Amino acid sequence: MNNELANEIRSKCDIVDIVGERIPLVARGKNFFGVCPFHDDSNPSLCVSREKQIYTCFSCHATGNVFTFLMNYEHMDFRETLHYLGEKVGIDVSSVHIKKKNTMFDSFYDAYQFSLKYFQNNLQSKLGKDARNYLATRKIDDSVIKEFEIGLSLNNSNDLTNLLVNKKYNLGDLNKIGLSSDDRDVYINRIMFPLYDLTGKVVGFSGRIYQNNGQNKYLNTKETPIFKKGQLLYHYHVAREECRLKKSVIVMEGFMDVIRASTIGVRNTVALMGTALTREQLELIKRLSTNVILCLDGDDPGVHATINIGDMLLEEEIEAKVLVLPNPDDPDSFILNHGKESFLNLLDSAITFNDFKLRKLKEKVDFRSDEETALYINQVLQETVKVQDPIRVEIILKKLAKEFDLSYNTLEMRFRELDKPKSRKKITAVTYQKAKKKTKYEKAIEQVLYFMLNNDWVINQFEKERIIFPNEGSRLLASEIVYYYTTYGQINIPDFYTYVQDKEEVVNFLNDILASDYLESTTRDELFEYFGVIREYSRAQEIKRLTNSLSKEVDPIIQAEIADKIRKLRIGDNKNGWRN
Ligand code: UTP
Ligand code: MN
Repeated sequence: MNNELANEIRSKCDIVDIVGERIPLVARGKNFFGVCPFHDDSNPSLCVSREKQIYTCFSCHATGNVFTFLMNYEHMDFRETLHYLGEKVGIDVSSVHIKKKNTMFDSFYDAYQFSLKYFQNNLQSKLGKDARNYLATRKIDDSVIKEFEIGLSLNNSNDLTNLLVNKKYNLGDLNKIGLSSDDRDVYINRIMFPLYDLTGKVVGFSGRIYQNNGQNKYLNTKETPIFKKGQLLYHYHVAREECRLKKSVIVMEGFMDVIRASTIGVRNTVALMGTALTREQLELIKRLSTNVILCLDGDDPGVHATINIGDMLLEEEIEAKVLVLPNPDDPDSFILNHGKESFLNLLDSAITFNDFKLRKLKEKVDFRSDEETALYINQVLQETVKVQDPIRVEIILKKLAKEFDLSYNTLEMRFRELDKPKSRKKITAVTYQKAKKKTKYEKAIEQVLYFMLNNDWVINQFEKERIIFPNEGSRLLASEIVYYYTTYGQINIPDFYTYVQDKEEVVNFLNDILASDYLESTTRDELFEYFGVIREYSRAQEIKRLTNSLSKEVDPIIQAEIADKIRKLRIGDNKNGWRN
């Protein structure tokens, strides 16, 4: 029965259309070719056959029919695919009951679905009055609460864990999927925003404080088997269709921004949820549309994130557009303060990523200084090398020549020099002794430094958390990174190398780190674990130093002071579980 239905639907749609709506295809002979979305490639190795109604990739050997294509590409399950295609070809499948394949995660999803309803009920109950008032002050009305399934966790309660245990979920699982921690409720007294996976199933929550109690603004579900933050984008399941209609995708920082945009009918949006963009997320964005509009917060971190993401997209030969918000607005506050029309106007006047970068570059230059001016012009040329369109290149060069009263030829010559295939200066390899085995602490320090070199946001976190490294070399390198970053706005490792080249100590340490096998990017939670390890180590070092000076001290009063300091540090240690 289901097979017949599936066959009927399949026979009524054309795989070339379905694939072609998502990936540009070029006809060659009887077949169509495009870049395969199932592996990392830029060659047209995907072949779609109208005759056979199948696709095959010559490179990664992905193959299948229109159903498998959609299931893999859109992360839909069979039922969703059937519904989607049924709607397209005008076959009503709503009455058809399709048996769902069970997976080992089903009970996890069910637990989340149950929790969702529980939180939603709380918000509507008498106990939800303050939270509802808070939402009202933020202009989040009932229809938004409903659409985004917003709920509430209660004060000092262990109700959810108890309810779930009574429903025969086991505590081990509840801890594992982040609904309980140490057998107790994770979320206390927070407004609960469900987080969805790519197909729209609830797989996590972000809980926001709504009374000023000095806690972290948002508390998020930890990484679990069904919730992997770096592989998700908030609102993806809704944006999927909307992006196709609007032929573009808007990337925002927080889910509040997405929610607000939705209230003015802008729904081709996704949010990153406070982390640096991962490769997987980049792929997801590209799938929604290659017409990407970056709409991050108007403050400095937002600008840095814009440059980072824009650069990542450029590497994939996609030049994003940037919707520039005034500092310090985020999309949420901008829409609230200025309204729908103003936002749509900004959207219309979004500038190219390259223009955005040049604009930001310009803001920092003191044009009274010839040196800075020359540096700026060189930087502009360097950025212009990345522009694909030769006409735009000429426009930029002409403007530059006019603005600084330079000859076009000089600029063009310099441009051509830079445009040559990268002949990057070789970094002289410094020989260093065979590395001794590093301790867990040394590794944590070096890993954090490595993250800082590769992820701007880590530098911000490092500063915000006031991490102080326990040894001279790492402290020096960290301060150089921070200095370089605040001066130039981003870290580019080859350039940074040049910058520190005559600081021998720093170079040696940098070589050591770059030669090791460290992870390139991280999540906020992981980073904070590294910070924890480093803090622990600093404390242990300090105790060691004090113990040493205690043994040399003769003055009994000073001895007592030192002993007291050590004691206090030790108490801190035990709290943090540090053992010698
Ligand atoms: P923002 O601080 O920009 O949040 O963080 P927001 O959207 O403006 O939120 P409101 O308006 O204050 O309510 C952006 C994203 O970073 C993550 C969240 O996912 C948020 O959507 N974040 C932020 C956290 O995970 N934890 C935090 O403490 C803060
Ligand atoms: Mn906000």
